[in-house]
Amino acid sequence: MSNQENGLPEENPYPELKLPELLSSDTLKSLHEAIERDWDLLQRSACQTAAGRALWKQEINDPLAELFAGETYLKAIYEKIKKDRINNAREISGVILAVRTLWFDSRLEQALESFNGGEAQVVLLGAGMDARSYRLSCLKDSTVFEVDFPEVLHAKATIIDAAVNSKDEHHHPTMTTKSLTRVPADLAEDDWLEKLQISGFEPNKRTVWVLEGIIYYLPHSHAVKVLKIIADKCNLTNTVLLADFMNKQATMLSSSTFRFYCDWPDQLLPSLGFSEVKLSQIGDPDANFGLLQDPLNLFNKLRSLPRSVETHMEDGTPCGRLYLLQASGSPDNQTSS
Ligand SMILES: C[S@@+](CC[C@H](N)C(=O)[O-])C[C@H]1O[C@@H](n2cnc3c(N)ncnc32)[C@H](O)[C@@H]1O
Repeated sequence: MSNQENGLPEENPYPELKLPELLSSDTLKSLHEAIERDWDLLQRSACQTAAGRALWKQEINDPLAELFAGETYLKAIYEKIKKDRINNAREISGVILAVRTLWFDSRLEQALESFNGGEAQVVLLGAGMDARSYRLSCLKDSTVFEVDFPEVLHAKATIIDAAVNSKDEHHHPTMTTKSLTRVPADLAEDDWLEKLQISGFEPNKRTVWVLEGIIYYLPHSHAVKVLKIIADKCNLTNTVLLADFMNKQATMLSSSTFRFYCDWPDQLLPSLGFSEVKLSQIGDPDANFGLLQDPLNLFNKLRSLPRSVETHMEDGTPCGRLYLLQASGSPDNQTSS
């Protein structure tokens, strides 16, 4: 059906997707071809997440997101958002990712402030194409560690090098951290903390752990073990953990790669030793950033239902929820909500 038949104006109702020139350089073209060809679903989720951030650039200033994402994933999410906008959808594709990223940004900043200045460690577990080390000024005194599979971290470094050496000023990255160390490791193995320590991480120092979009990709026992290792081996008085959890219904929403779920992460974390735990849901006052105004959108509807409700009464669809958790080990060391 043409736009005219649709009743839509003939001119393009949604701005065209403009790709950065650097993406068509030989280096980045062949790198992204290899990513699509050789990486598994887990690893490719890093680029899909970057694509979401790139398309929500009004909200998230991420100069590297388009380069990290690559053309295929950018086009895929662009088409989804365009369709949602044209259809006046209540939830625009990627909004959950935008809110999640902004929530982690703001909690990370608050946590660093709560340490009353000075140095801190920030560990990004399953860092993927997270560009916080290039976009957050609050990290200026922080020693940042990025943990992910070797292929992912290697590709990330190649893309950053290409951007640094390019003439494209818009995508020129400047590191905002005191230092950045990439630590190749598999979180499903037992030695990831040891690898972090060999790379300079100190378990007793003040640390913010960022587990964004990672925990539900791990098998159940490994996910709990990762949390337990942090709780057991690190000084929790000096620890702030930030993590998102899916409930069981959320992992059932697609025939997906999601494995770990937790309906009550605010009970799981205290059982592991965290004493101060705060839970937010997407759409809560501290987790909407003005992006979820419509009271009838899915996230606001979910928030109005008790957390134990598993399916929507109207149509029997699952109540998939994403929980955002902040946890630490001592009341003296809390950040304010
Ligand atoms: C959805 S992405 C999120 C990346 C990043 N946290 C962000 O928000 O942009 C998930 C990341 O977890 C990584 N990952 C999944 N399982 C992992 C494992 N067992 N060990 C290390 N990294 C893993 C993937 O390679 C991918 O980069």
